[in-house]
Amino acid sequence: MARQFFVGGNWKMNGSVEQVKKLVEMLNGFNVPANTEVVVAPPALYLDRVHQNIKKEIKVAAQNTYIKASGAYTGELSPQMLKDMGLEWVIIGHSERREYFKESDELVGEKTQFAIEAGVSVIACIGEKLEEREANITNDVVARQMKAIAKYVKDWSKVVVAYEPVWAIGTGKVATPEQAQDVHAYLRKWLAENVSQKAADETRILYGGSVNGANCKTLAAKPDIDGFLVGGASLKPEFGDIINSRQ
Ligand code: PGA
Repeated sequence: MARQFFVGGNWKMNGSVEQVKKLVEMLNGFNVPANTEVVVAPPALYLDRVHQNIKKEIKVAAQNTYIKASGAYTGELSPQMLKDMGLEWVIIGHSERREYFKESDELVGEKTQFAIEAGVSVIACIGEKLEEREANITNDVVARQMKAIAKYVKDWSKVVVAYEPVWAIGTGKVATPEQAQDVHAYLRKWLAENVSQKAADETRILYGGSVNGANCKTLAAKPDIDGFLVGGASLKPEFGDIINSRQ
């Protein structure tokens, strides 16, 4: 089964009422190819507004959810709440959450499974830091992160993996198509050996980290790159080119 191309836009903590209105207008003007799944992740406060106004070809994701359905967890959102609002996706384990909010591999695994059980699909993020790449332990790091996710996940059809080398996020320093392809191929092999051949064949593996309108086509041409998770460029008109980057 061919893996459907997937493009995610992570707005991070950006936007205002005015900007969100303009972004939705921009997105509604894009051509979304039938063979491409597009999901955008606004800040939580704007989720419903975006969801209410965006065209149906574009889905809306939260940037984080917790591992409880409700209760005394000030500041958190549950995947059940997303479901209640008609939202189908969440980003889990972004490197900024791991770094600034001290999310562990274990918590990322738990959050991923909890969201899936609530009926929300997950963009699960992994990736090595610069010093880890320089120490030649990239594969070990991503394998460790995948293992913590695989420990919890039962239904891989609800997971999209985003490989995002931390040194490439927001830095303008994109991984070369070869560097990205090498890690993606390794992750697919890891899935075949540790989960199942089906999971390896069918799970979309996205690349993220300084993807833009100029570099997306050569990355998208690589056999194991099934799409992108885009930060900065998802707030700009070039996001339309990225959505259309699969030849
Ligand atoms: P960037 O961010 O495209 O701005 O590098 C990617 C991400 O954090 O998902």
